Amino acid sequence: MCGIVGYVGDEEALPILLQKLNLLTYRGYDSAGIAVSHNGNFYVEKAQGKVGQLEQLIDYSIASGVVGLGHTRWATHGEPSRLNAHPHLDCSGRIALVHNGIVENFLSLRTQLEAEGHTFRSETDTEVLVHLVEKYYDGNVTKAVQLALQQVEGALAIVVLHKDEEDRLVAAKMDTPPLIIGLGRGENHVASDIPALLHYTNKVYVMEDGEVATITKNDVLITNFREAVQPRIYERRVMVIDWPPEVAQKGGYPHYMLKEIHEQPDTIEDTLRGRLLEDGHTDIPDLHVLPEEIRAVQRMTFVACGTAYHACLVAKHLFETVLRIPVQVDVGSEFRYRQPIIGPDEWVVAISQSGETADTIASMREGREQHAKVLAITNVVGSSVARLADGVIFTRAGPEIAVASTKAFVGQLIGVYLLLLHMAQFRPHAHADELQAMAGELPRLAGLVQRLLEDQAGVQDIAGRIAQQPACFFIGRNLDEPIALEGSLKLKEISYIQSQGYAAGELKHGTLALLEEGIPVICLATQPNVYDKMLSNVQEVMARRAWTIGLVPEGDTGSQHLMDDVLTVPRTHPWLSPVLAAVQVQLLAYHCANALERDIDQPRNLAKSVTVE
Ligand code: AGP
Repeated sequence: MCGIVGYVGDEEALPILLQKLNLLTYRGYDSAGIAVSHNGNFYVEKAQGKVGQLEQLIDYSIASGVVGLGHTRWATHGEPSRLNAHPHLDCSGRIALVHNGIVENFLSLRTQLEAEGHTFRSETDTEVLVHLVEKYYDGNVTKAVQLALQQVEGALAIVVLHKDEEDRLVAAKMDTPPLIIGLGRGENHVASDIPALLHYTNKVYVMEDGEVATITKNDVLITNFREAVQPRIYERRVMVIDWPPEVAQKGGYPHYMLKEIHEQPDTIEDTLRGRLLEDGHTDIPDLHVLPEEIRAVQRMTFVACGTAYHACLVAKHLFETVLRIPVQVDVGSEFRYRQPIIGPDEWVVAISQSGETADTIASMREGREQHAKVLAITNVVGSSVARLADGVIFTRAGPEIAVASTKAFVGQLIGVYLLLLHMAQFRPHAHADELQAMAGELPRLAGLVQRLLEDQAGVQDIAGRIAQQPACFFIGRNLDEPIALEGSLKLKEISYIQSQGYAAGELKHGTLALLEEGIPVICLATQPNVYDKMLSNVQEVMARRAWTIGLVPEGDTGSQHLMDDVLTVPRTHPWLSPVLAAVQVQLLAYHCANALERDIDQPRNLAKSVTVE
């Protein structure tokens, strides 16, 4: 989510750091900062906004040093602001730290550190890390970082600069966020993403979970904070990167959309992290809803636009089934103009990746004016949607660059599951076993998505054939219907093929007239409770000699004999199948558009965030 850069060598660090930060700006961020050190002169500057604003604040007459670090922040904890921007400093102002990721136990750590006399300046989770390093520093910053990280739960990458050891940087990685060391001649670099390194070197060392790197201009010593190992020179095979810079920005993928589809296992893990507890309980501090409010709510309205609207439809099925709360769902552009009736004890829940969609924001305001509690599931801390809501579930998908929303959508579904589990703790319902089973499956979901991503041959083949067709239909029932709509939207918006998503039972009420021989129909059938009905709908489609493509759980036998082609998803709790089906329809749309050589990341006529009506 955030961008990290560092440099140790003989050149002035500042211009190198700024150039590297500019090479990371494609990732999306809300603030930036740098720290350099030279002969005990420790210079730190940071700014809300873009790197350009940071450059205007820097005093170049004193910002000197051959060691330094920099950061572009994508907020996860704490509003975008200069105070919350990185680097963060310890109490003494002698240690600077930049961070990417999530510190799950930051509240307990902050309480403990404040009790020990540490003074905090920001509202970020990051700041606990630099105070921990300060706490354990005894003249060896590498050792202090190792001891500090042994206290931390979460997933993070950090780089630390200590004023008293200004010939080195210490980098460390815990779990997912990437950290890569660039190996130069008489200088070394570190960054959260390869594009920031390629201008200086193509020899990289990709750090692994638990590793701590002490980086000087001539050496990189690797140790591990999880186990006492002897420091060693990096001996793992150094990677030589031969990507051109524009490909490197996409992590080696040909398009941001494919990169972001592949980031979905991380999105699932990051969005669940620290919120899904043992036995299905949840901890969602940003939600700010009281148990009595949950018990009292009489109706919920989910409102969104486009792909986010499809997440609302999944929510409707689940909340009405489990909590027996009446749920209405609307697109933002309609909700605000249909004189909605919102009574007391009703909630409006907005879902938005960007948090800046005008129609969604206006719908939230409509709810506010009618005194509803307004909640949000969004991907952007500090966005208009986040600020307008009484409580928020942040989806932690990181910046989504491609116009077609993929990882943010899966993050929204995870947000819906978390909200359902959270509310179910405080409202009587008759689905305790089902919810427990679903909650038990959630930690496996990222791995199941990863399995889908590792075998795309089948979906790619079918996509190549659909690319030759003039139209494509997606049909499904119950929880498959929202994904039928989503698959159709994905296909339309990046391949430009005519497409419709439909409730399968509705086909015979008119749309069936459009089916002709060979027209592809994606038949989603992951839901056991409507499986037989779905197969009947498939028969209707086959009777018109259309091309039927099943999207079914692995091992399904009914579809194998009935449909022309079959795409499968790993078996999981049926309530979670929308996540896996979503990945398949995303891949179908992507490979179809790719076969047609479309402008996949920037489709014609579309914008990433629709901030106008
Ligand atoms: C989805 O692929 C589209 N880019 C679009 O429908 C999008 O979902 C919609 O504009 C809503 O955007 P938001 O989630 O940022 O509010």
